[in-house]
Amino acid sequence: MKVLILEDAGAAYDRAAGLIADEITANHRAVLGLATGGTMLPIYERLVIRHRAGLSLSGITSFNLDEYVGLAPEHPQSYRSYMRRALFDLTDIDPALTHLPRGDAANPMVEAERYEDRIRRAGGIDLQLLGIGRNGHIGFNEPTSSLGSRTRVKTLTRQTREANSRFFGPDETVPAFAITMGVGTILDARQCLLVATGDDKARAVAAMIEGPVSAVCPASALQMHPKAVAVLDRPAASALQLGDYYRHVHPDGSEREIR
Ligand code: GLP
Repeated sequence: MKVLILEDAGAAYDRAAGLIADEITANHRAVLGLATGGTMLPIYERLVIRHRAGLSLSGITSFNLDEYVGLAPEHPQSYRSYMRRALFDLTDIDPALTHLPRGDAANPMVEAERYEDRIRRAGGIDLQLLGIGRNGHIGFNEPTSSLGSRTRVKTLTRQTREANSRFFGPDETVPAFAITMGVGTILDARQCLLVATGDDKARAVAAMIEGPVSAVCPASALQMHPKAVAVLDRPAASALQLGDYYRHVHPDGSEREIR
């Protein structure tokens, strides 16, 4: 895994947005895997700024990682609404080419299979953007998720529901289930870009990069991916044993020329 440690969170978001913009520039018809959560908001803000400066997303197809079961797309706390507010409504991306699982599907299990099939029919994902949960989840693949799993329904942990309750009103309950791409679905992406900032992610980040590959930390499956990049700020990188080495290989998150 390529580990890029940036000076602060702002620099990490800049770097991540730059890598996504490079992918879009290189391939106007790229298939992007998108993510939600607090970490992604400043990254999407930066992409919107780049869009206003000329970056077009009009040919881009997108597949989000996950959606809460029970929430219709129009629900303000659905991930579809999040994506509209953060990116879709603020750029020229074609809404018909944006995909999220339908949280209100009559049969979420069938919806999960349909979603997996749509990703396959789109030719797979070129670049998958990822955050990480404090317990090491990616998408909504909670600890002990099969590392070969495909898109399916998962029960959320209490910890994840508590962490995500900040996006819900005081009298709203966080859904108990989600449809999420599986770990195997994520590993099929041709590139993975995981972004983590803040010291509350430090333990999960260390387990992901330097721990054993284990279903207890689903993000550790990225160690098996041939083209995975972790973009971190210093606090998120603070529990890494080999931090000096990563900084030596990529000073300030840069690519070093090999002579
Ligand atoms: C949710 C999402 C994940 C995301 C995680 C961390 O659970 N399903 O994709 O990585 O939150 O979010 P945050 O960036 O808010 O810490």
